[in-house]
Amino acid sequence: MAKNQPVPSDAFVFFGMSGDLAHKKIFPALYNMVKRDALHVPVIGVASSDWTVKDLRDRARDSITTYGGGIDDEGAFEKLTSLMRYVDGNYNDKATFKELKQQLGDSQRPAHYLAIPPSMFQTVAEGLGSAGAAKNARVIVEKPFGRDLQSAQTLNAALHSVFPEENIFRIDHYLGKEAVQNILYFRFANSFLEPIWNSNYVRQVQITMAEDFGVQGRGKFYEEVGALRDVIENHLFQVVALLAMESPVGPGTESLRDAKEKVFAAMPDIEPDDLVRGQFEGYRDEDGVAPDSDVETFAAVRVHIDSWRWGGVPFYIRAGKNLPVSCTEVRVELHRPPTRVFGEFEDMPRDSNYFRFQLSPRVSIAAGVRVKALGEGFTGSDVELYLCNDHPGEETAYERLLGDALDGDTLLFAREDGVEASWRAVDDVLTNHAPAIPYAVHTWGPEEQNRLIDDEHGWHNPVVDPLVDC
Ligand code: BG6
Repeated sequence: MAKNQPVPSDAFVFFGMSGDLAHKKIFPALYNMVKRDALHVPVIGVASSDWTVKDLRDRARDSITTYGGGIDDEGAFEKLTSLMRYVDGNYNDKATFKELKQQLGDSQRPAHYLAIPPSMFQTVAEGLGSAGAAKNARVIVEKPFGRDLQSAQTLNAALHSVFPEENIFRIDHYLGKEAVQNILYFRFANSFLEPIWNSNYVRQVQITMAEDFGVQGRGKFYEEVGALRDVIENHLFQVVALLAMESPVGPGTESLRDAKEKVFAAMPDIEPDDLVRGQFEGYRDEDGVAPDSDVETFAAVRVHIDSWRWGGVPFYIRAGKNLPVSCTEVRVELHRPPTRVFGEFEDMPRDSNYFRFQLSPRVSIAAGVRVKALGEGFTGSDVELYLCNDHPGEETAYERLLGDALDGDTLLFAREDGVEASWRAVDDVLTNHAPAIPYAVHTWGPEEQNRLIDDEHGWHNPVVDPLVDC
């Protein structure tokens, strides 16, 4: 789609540069952006770590070496470090923002990236405002965007007191993934889909985000969130919205966002009966986890979308840590053909007509169809029409999103109304729920999840697609 033409930012200010996210994702993203000749503006780190610019550069090297596949272009690395500046200081101290303002020099339109705990958003936003560093500026905020409806509203109000909505870029890194954007593209670039993409033809949608690892030392963080807040309310709801949205009315980014955000508005509140929570055995022994923790490391939910198109179609969504594989997949199942032309209706699996989108680790689209088996009778078997869409070396989600935010392109960012509506949908069950049910590590989670699906096939456990040359 055609991009708007906003004025690009002329500086990238990075709060939380000494943190974990910066180390794992952001330095490698910035390095790749320089390699692609897509980053030319000063990169100003702000942190209270008593660092020097040299420490910052060493950190960048370590990050790219450890998490970014190594430095294969010293020239690009040198260029990145030449763009870097560092402001050391406490976010509660006005002097930090004065110093930042000085470092910004004659920048007219900086982009401030807040990779810091949400509890600091307001302090930093106000610090930027009072130092005169917020004028014409963009602000990029990391998830989690709040922990329930009320805290999300408070955060939005805090940001809005300094930045207008069009300058706020709320990151949901799933929207930066090619595979996720591909859902949007596939839906609206293929006319064969539209006539069947509704409750007349679709009987259910399943989305599974399985991870074969635990909380990886993030026990303290995870205790504050749990699976529902960590990945379902944001990443997987965004996937639901792209699957379920109406076609945008009119051109431009905002009409597309309007159509997407309306899906959240059409989600009725999730009832306690629509949720099954699980906790992998051993979670309570993790560092930073309470010995009697009830935080869920697995959640399965049944969601509905109250619209003419989707009325009566359940969307089953689940996510879990320490499951048997790492694989995220969407499965859109169609109704069976209505007549018994070949008399095999009873033997025909109910789930043989479907679309399947593997979002990770492979990027693929498949259509499950029946074809006639060889021989005189009219019997068939299930096959998949399989399209591999993997592109090794593609931009990572953070490269895409940081680049878009610097360019002022809001398309792939969550908007205030959508964020609040998705928190509203889960708000009650965040606290009003049954206890988490223990499950053994590397299993598919508690059995109780099957009660959500009224169907003999239950959940489809995704299998990683084979790596084929695309
Ligand atoms: C993060 C969650 O937002 O997304 C993690 O905090 C999760 O718990 C991660 O593992 C998954 O992202 P990806 O891109 O690896 O699928």
